[in-house]
Amino acid sequence: MSLAHAYDPPPSAAPRQAYVIVVGNQKGGAGKSTVAMHIVVALMRMGRRTGVLDLDVRQRSLTRYIENRNRWIAARSAKLASPQGIDIKESPQRLLDLAEQEEEAGFRLALRRLSETCDFIVIDSPGGDSHLSRIAHACADTLVTPLNDSFVDFDLLGDIDPNCAEIVRPSIYSEMVWDSRKKKALDARTPIDWVVLRNRTSASKIEAKNKQRVGDALKTLSNRIGFRLAPGLSERVIYRELFPQGLTLLDLDADGGEGEMRMTHLAARQELRDLFITLKLPSLEGEPLKF
Ligand SMILES: Nc1ncnc2c1ncn2[C@@H]1O[C@H](COP(=O)(O)OP(=O)(O)OP(=O)(O)O)[C@@H](O)[C@H]1O
Ligand SMILES: [Mg+2]
Repeated sequence: MSLAHAYDPPPSAAPRQAYVIVVGNQKGGAGKSTVAMHIVVALMRMGRRTGVLDLDVRQRSLTRYIENRNRWIAARSAKLASPQGIDIKESPQRLLDLAEQEEEAGFRLALRRLSETCDFIVIDSPGGDSHLSRIAHACADTLVTPLNDSFVDFDLLGDIDPNCAEIVRPSIYSEMVWDSRKKKALDARTPIDWVVLRNRTSASKIEAKNKQRVGDALKTLSNRIGFRLAPGLSERVIYRELFPQGLTLLDLDADGGEGEMRMTHLAARQELRDLFITLKLPSLEGEPLKF
């Protein structure tokens, strides 16, 4: 496996306020940390100064991913970029109110600090509902929600009758995003661009019909509750395999080496490119992709 290019900051002046991308979804295991890491590496490959906040203070998956990356870089003197990060600690306070206040203060300070040196900040949020996660959602310029590609996880967005694909009502999470949008509009006077991404889509013909139905229901829901749909990411073992090395699909070189880039990797990278294009991030639109 050969490795890709070093971080090369652009000569352009940084925006005064870093652009915040929150990866969120209250369901566990939908691919938040994996997607967050791939967005981080994509931004670094585009030469943007990128910071990371991992709000999953218990599992710390994104933090561990980056630690693995730093170890890989150190062991091989690899010319790979690694993001800036500030640890968000779980409060030792026993009283919930005090714990929440302390964590919120820590989060806001970390966000301000990273904002001084970064163009983009990517925030990985934990599964479940937490005070910190709600605060972070209300700071998002873009919210990316990965969703396991099945009706089992669909109720994250809305209650739906799978037989007729009729939407009964938006979910608690959709309502939480709605509240965050209101807060953001009041505090910062800017909107949240919400992008939902189907993850772990299957190529199997047996599941094609179900995939189609999920897609149709998502389209209906996207109009109703106001999100954009990104092209999905397929189910691929490589995502799990790269975690211990701290690498992403965007770090593998197309011209071979120890682990030559297989066709499936190229297809996976194309899916990530399509996601990145769909995000329409400021200052990046129209710029040729460097991954
Ligand atoms: N497209 C994919 N194909 C195959 N495996 C995937 C894919 N996306 C994520 N995974 C794997 O699924 C597992 C869960 O992913 P991840 O940790 O990113 O989810 P999460 O939403 O952050 O979970 P949590 O809610 O626990 O924080 C990981 O082992 C990851 O490698
Ligand atoms: Mg996670």
